[in-house]
Amino acid sequence: MTEAHANPPPAIAPQGGGPQEIGSQASATQAIDWEAKYRAGSAPWERAGPHPAFLDWRTAGTLAPCRILVPGAGRSAEPLALAEAGFDVTVLDAAPSAVAVQQARFARIGVHAHAVAADLFAWTPATPFDAIYDQTCLCALPPALWPDYAARLAAWLRPGGALFVLFMQTGQAGGPPFDCDLAVMRRLFGPDLWTWPDTLAPPVPHPTLREEQPAVLRRS
Ligand SMILES: C[S@@+](CC[C@H](N)C(=O)[O-])C[C@H]1O[C@@H](n2cnc3c(N)ncnc32)[C@H](O)[C@@H]1O
Repeated sequence: MTEAHANPPPAIAPQGGGPQEIGSQASATQAIDWEAKYRAGSAPWERAGPHPAFLDWRTAGTLAPCRILVPGAGRSAEPLALAEAGFDVTVLDAAPSAVAVQQARFARIGVHAHAVAADLFAWTPATPFDAIYDQTCLCALPPALWPDYAARLAAWLRPGGALFVLFMQTGQAGGPPFDCDLAVMRRLFGPDLWTWPDTLAPPVPHPTLREEQPAVLRRS
């Protein structure tokens, strides 16, 4: 694992070795070779700018400055927007080039942020976060690992912390992206640990991947 702080900009290098070697090939914890996708310029999951649900949460104040983790952040726009708004941001991703992009953005504006190049299944933060923003990370992971991932999300959040999540709705078998059927999600994020809102906002169309269901889940 490599952790980098935005100011001054450090080098980012992947940790190698073992079944969780990152950045070079698909592994037991990576459904495909994400780093190769980034290097090939093939990233159909990416949006041109911040997610509409993200903007709604920011405007409403639901997502207010705090210590926040963005797992599987890739090259998404939200971490920089969060850092610029005064959040204490940590991005985590196994693809070194994506982490380097995030780190360069943070460094350019001199914000305090953390960029971690690591397999999320082999990473533990020093302190739990107030919030987590999951945008196309869950749906990118092998579904057999979803219970492990959900347990990690709970462990990474402080009690009372919030998971801001976009559940990918493909309506199809296979992936990635893997369909995050809402009945399955309600079992995965069950009432023992998570509180769901009474009503969910409408799904948001995705430019290339059908639609996503926004939700804010509160950790007990
Ligand atoms: C579909 S992309 C989404 C990227 C970003 N959230 C976005 O919306 O553009 C999935 C991301 O998860 C990362 N990822 C997949 N498996 C991972 C793992 N086991 N540990 C850390 N990152 C992982 C990939 O490297 C990739 O950047």
